[in-house]
Amino acid sequence: MVVTVNYHPTVGLPRIDDQLFIPQPARIVNIEQLTPLEKVFTVELPNGQSLGHKPGQFVEVSVLGIGEAPISVSSSPSRSDSAFELCVRKVGDVTSALHSKKTNDRIGIRGPFGRGFPVDKFRGKDLLFAPGGLGLAPLRSLINQVLDERALFGRVIILYGARNPSELLFKYELKDWQERDDIELHVTVDRGDDHWTGHTGVITTLFSDISIYPRNTVAITVGPPVMYRFVLIELLGKGISEGNIYLSLERRMKCGIGKCGHCQINNIYACQSGPVFSYKEIKGLEEAL
Ligand SMILES: Cc1cc2nc3c(=O)[nH]c(=O)nc-3n(C[C@H](O)[C@H](O)[C@H](O)COP(=O)(O)OP(=O)(O)OC[C@H]3O[C@@H](n4cnc5c(N)ncnc54)[C@H](O)[C@@H]3O)c2cc1C
Ligand code: FES
Repeated sequence: MVVTVNYHPTVGLPRIDDQLFIPQPARIVNIEQLTPLEKVFTVELPNGQSLGHKPGQFVEVSVLGIGEAPISVSSSPSRSDSAFELCVRKVGDVTSALHSKKTNDRIGIRGPFGRGFPVDKFRGKDLLFAPGGLGLAPLRSLINQVLDERALFGRVIILYGARNPSELLFKYELKDWQERDDIELHVTVDRGDDHWTGHTGVITTLFSDISIYPRNTVAITVGPPVMYRFVLIELLGKGISEGNIYLSLERRMKCGIGKCGHCQINNIYACQSGPVFSYKEIKGLEEAL
């Protein structure tokens, strides 16, 4: 989304476009229970408008009388015309209110906001995706765009980790990806159960299974902050340069447009300069990781 700055008619100070603060009344057209804690909501804007997002961007979702929360767009722009998908974990007020919604209910949507992944820079490169837990939700948007333009990219390697088998997201897509011979998918869970026959261990235990050509590889990781520290050690250890490692930083965001200061990290606002950053960009920021 382009942030339009008008000038106040009398005092001449920049004034942010008020429209950016007004949620659009959107309709939930489908709800899917993915795991005990996560649901995927398919949402339509009024009058068949397209959201026009890039992978990695987020929207502010509001429930009347409850509040607003930032949620990444989980569907790929290449697969979203009038509808888009949000994968939401029930953790607090807004997300619980969302989970109680039914098909055809209305919610508010502002956005899309933030800087998405620089997909143009990724073309021609080998891509190493390392989502952890709910981090697959935003990365799925990018992965599916890459798969829809498969010939424009090199190898596609996905290392996905969840805490246990019941928390694995988008299992039907994981199955499709597993069956394709142009994707190298490795899945692990921290703790298996009686039915789990796959790899067990934290996500970093998957890195020893793969060999890459670091000069031609871009790595993209999204997950909980604690995961980044260890995944970054693996990625740098494989020789991938700091400028070719991308991650998404979650902060407690409110306005989404650089006005409230809730998401400030040193001198930047994560909602505007991010949430997607290269490691090179944030390495020196004390509070970033
Ligand atoms: C860019 C971005 C993208 C995101 N994408 C997704 C997504 O795709 N799916 C998804 O499910 N979530 C996503 N989130 C996370 C989501 O926005 C948060 O979980 C949000 O807080 C949920 O709102 P809530 O009102 O339901 O929960 P809240 O009421 O905000 O509570 C959430 C949790 O945070 C704790 N908490 C509340 N206030 C504070 C505080 N001031 N300081 C510290 N902890 C506090 C609560 O105890 C609770 O555990 C994203 C966040 C960002 C910034
Ligand atoms: S969320 Fe308000 S400044 Fe970033």
